[in-house]
Amino acid sequence: DRDVYKYYADGEWRTSSSGKSVSIINPTTRKPEYKVQACTQEEVNKAMASAKEAQKGWAKTPLWKRAELLHKAAAILKENKAPISECLVKEIAKPKKDAVSEVVRSGDLVSYTAEEGVRILAEGKFLVSDSFPGNERTKYCLASKVPLGVVLAIPPFNYPVNLAVSKIAPALIAGNALVLKPPTQGAVAALHMVHCFHLAGFPKGLISCITGKGSEIGDFLTMHPGVNCISFTGGDTGIAISKKAGMIPLQMELGGKDACIVLEDADLDLVAANIIKGGFSYSGQRCTAVKVVMVMESVANALVDKVNAKVAKLTVGPPEEDCDITPVVSESSANFIEGLVMDAKQKGATFCQEYKREGNLIWPLLLDHVRPDMRIAWEEPFGPVLPVIRINSVEEGIHHCNASNFGLQGCVFTRDINKAILISDAMETGTVQINSAPARGPDHFPFQGLKDSGIGSQGITNSINMMTKTKSTVINLP
Ligand code: G3P
Repeated sequence: DRDVYKYYADGEWRTSSSGKSVSIINPTTRKPEYKVQACTQEEVNKAMASAKEAQKGWAKTPLWKRAELLHKAAAILKENKAPISECLVKEIAKPKKDAVSEVVRSGDLVSYTAEEGVRILAEGKFLVSDSFPGNERTKYCLASKVPLGVVLAIPPFNYPVNLAVSKIAPALIAGNALVLKPPTQGAVAALHMVHCFHLAGFPKGLISCITGKGSEIGDFLTMHPGVNCISFTGGDTGIAISKKAGMIPLQMELGGKDACIVLEDADLDLVAANIIKGGFSYSGQRCTAVKVVMVMESVANALVDKVNAKVAKLTVGPPEEDCDITPVVSESSANFIEGLVMDAKQKGATFCQEYKREGNLIWPLLLDHVRPDMRIAWEEPFGPVLPVIRINSVEEGIHHCNASNFGLQGCVFTRDINKAILISDAMETGTVQINSAPARGPDHFPFQGLKDSGIGSQGITNSINMMTKTKSTVINLP
């Protein structure tokens, strides 16, 4: 079938021997838009073998040369922002402007990673033995960072390009090979992105992109003995992967229920603007989206009014027209969101707007007076619906935030920096933003989740370090 996008292995574009394909449904039209190869386990084995082989040579390639290739890939990626963003619009209904920003941000991320890599990987450690009791100065230890081997990268649908390169670039600069399993929605954008790396001229086999059904190759990939590190971003699947994976370093970024705590002295216009940006950009389909607002009762009416005025201005419609709110990624996702909304309605939440849905398109909705017995107080909708819980003390807000299984980010709005710091210290999340909505970027900042939100820390510098191990050579003097 000529319409099926080929997968990438051993430096070539290939058709799977399975003869099967996976359809990608356009969330807006709800009709098949693209098809990708359904790769077999045998094809995974081959990609792993060539990755292993290519990695040996790559680890010996001078660091500056590795950086040079990454810079080249970054430039090609940016040149191709139009076709790649078009795929993002069709595959994941990302508004056109955001789709272009995702590609440009990805190019910047790759270049920054190359720069950061040449700096931090140049540094090692030199230690002498006589600081530890009982030792003379007879041992010199030279420690440096060496690659892990083959890194398996599994990004999610919401940033199929950016969250792929945030794993690919650090893996490559550190001297690893990379096997990418893109999400089904977003696979074609990812294949185009991989083509940019292909054009940059990386050694064959070093990068591969295996498409297919999670049910057939998911566990096979994550449990493959050839994998030396897994970097995963996504949902609950990550918990299952971490239980099944072997004794290898894991980098996991899973869901979040990012809380926004609003104090009485907060600048409510600033809060409202951040709730809109944080809660509704890409229709709430971000791990770092604001997923629950906890506002002090005394300012709750004023805040809800301000947010509602802004919700009324959000445009709703197709991603091609750059609407603020676009269809969510799949019908099952829309059904799940609707389930949370209906549960809240039945339990007495106040709907600030009328609930409206057409196909996968859900109109933005603020739910006021949400209480802890409602599912939406705890679960992440990954959609444009946002609960507001009114609180009578800051402690109540912190308590709700910390009672969550998640611990990705949180934010606090107040003009009192001392209070903000104390609240930040008390919130059990990987990051707390003071006076701004949660966000992963800028991409060199550390990015991590506690509890069910993840393992390890990302961000460019942390990812490079995580994808290396320390190797020591000890010189023993007579
Ligand atoms: O949802 C994934 C997470 O990495 C979000 O990134 O840039 O939207 O904060 P960002």
